[in-house]
Amino acid sequence: MEVAKRTNERTSMPVAADDPWLGCNPLDADFRNDPYPALQHLREHAPVSGTPIGLWRLARYDDVWRVLHDVPSGVRTTDGVLPFVDESLENQHRFMLEQDPPNHTRLRRLVSRAFTPRAVQRIRADVQRIVDECLDRVSGRGAMDVIADLALPVPSTVICEMIGVPLEDRDTFTIWTADATHGLAGEIAPPDVLARARAAGEHLGEYFRKLIAVRRTDLGDDLLSMLIRAEEEGDRLSGEELISQSIGLLIAGFETTIGLIGNGIRQLALHPAELARLKASPEMIETAVEECLRFDGPIGLTVRVLHADAEFGGHTLPKNTTIWALLASANRDPRAFPDPDRFDIARQPNDHLAFGGGAHFCLGSHLARLEAQCAIGSLVARFDALALVSEAVEWGPSLFRVPGTLPLTFSG
Ligand code: HEM
Repeated sequence: MEVAKRTNERTSMPVAADDPWLGCNPLDADFRNDPYPALQHLREHAPVSGTPIGLWRLARYDDVWRVLHDVPSGVRTTDGVLPFVDESLENQHRFMLEQDPPNHTRLRRLVSRAFTPRAVQRIRADVQRIVDECLDRVSGRGAMDVIADLALPVPSTVICEMIGVPLEDRDTFTIWTADATHGLAGEIAPPDVLARARAAGEHLGEYFRKLIAVRRTDLGDDLLSMLIRAEEEGDRLSGEELISQSIGLLIAGFETTIGLIGNGIRQLALHPAELARLKASPEMIETAVEECLRFDGPIGLTVRVLHADAEFGGHTLPKNTTIWALLASANRDPRAFPDPDRFDIARQPNDHLAFGGGAHFCLGSHLARLEAQCAIGSLVARFDALALVSEAVEWGPSLFRVPGTLPLTFSG
């Protein structure tokens, strides 16, 4: 392949002259393995760029911030079309993240009560108990798979407890959730992954229909009961919307949290001085988790559709242009973060965009932070000599940045 003379000064990354993705194709294995050198190149040389599939990308912090907060935009076109999705084939796109106002506003308001900082603090002891049980199981073994033994069971058990999924169903339920999440790539996912994702979506829908029927007879204070009450209060939440919000919440909160815990522990193990700092000062866990989100967060981009013509870096993009706001690139922009490639668990301020921004800002951010603080903080406090078995990562089938396994040795 012909390689252009242009090289990335700090990383010497060659950029293929004929690569229409400019080194940043999310499906490319090298990019997936380490997207940051290519993102740096894009940010410096083509901060506002088109792609072969017609959408545009923003790579600098200010532009990403602006499209999320300041520029008229949504997730659908002004005619209500969801980009890259054929809704006539699967009329299931009722989750809030796929809606613009007024639908979005109504759905988000109904669900948000369960995710306020106060509501989340109430389950702190439960989250800590779930983490402690995971660590009890590996204690004395000297080795663990961070994903299978901690990063996966924590969010899956927490959400099952929040929804009230009976204990005996949790393993099947977790497999369906994982499979359904892999379908988020939509038409760019491999056909077998997509087929499994659709089947899992149907299983989950069926499961929720039955669970909702049972729960209606005995409403409690769990998340599902809260949604059922909203549905019963009239036309504020339809039956199908109720099921879509339930499945959507599972999907939104599952692999993202696995990725945060997994990538976070990996980065700490790769930066022994920062790991030692956290071990010596456990109260640094809050800023440490924010740095894990900024430095190697699980979601590389979020999508917006312009609702009016807008200017970015000298390009005027017309109304209804689909845009990828490259969160992972914004989070390494030296214009926003001094020495951005340094992993610094005390970094402050740290106004990263790992949870997106504006109307769709992650509703589960407080829960995700709590789970990561408990999981990462407890692992570091309880065990010594944490070391990765290999620096190479085996990425999972997720659309997000989530290791499939992460073998770790430790003492204690
Ligand atoms: C580390 C973990 C997580 C990360 C990095 C993350 C990140 C994100 C991002 C980037 C968005 C899109 C924001 C935008 O487009 O502006 C989002 C939306 C959302 N997330 Fe999260 N998320 C995480 C965990 C969770 C959890 C645990 C839940 C709940 C159980 C959750 C629920 C949601 C919901 C409901 C939305 C859609 C909000 C809306 O459309 O108004 N997330 N998240």
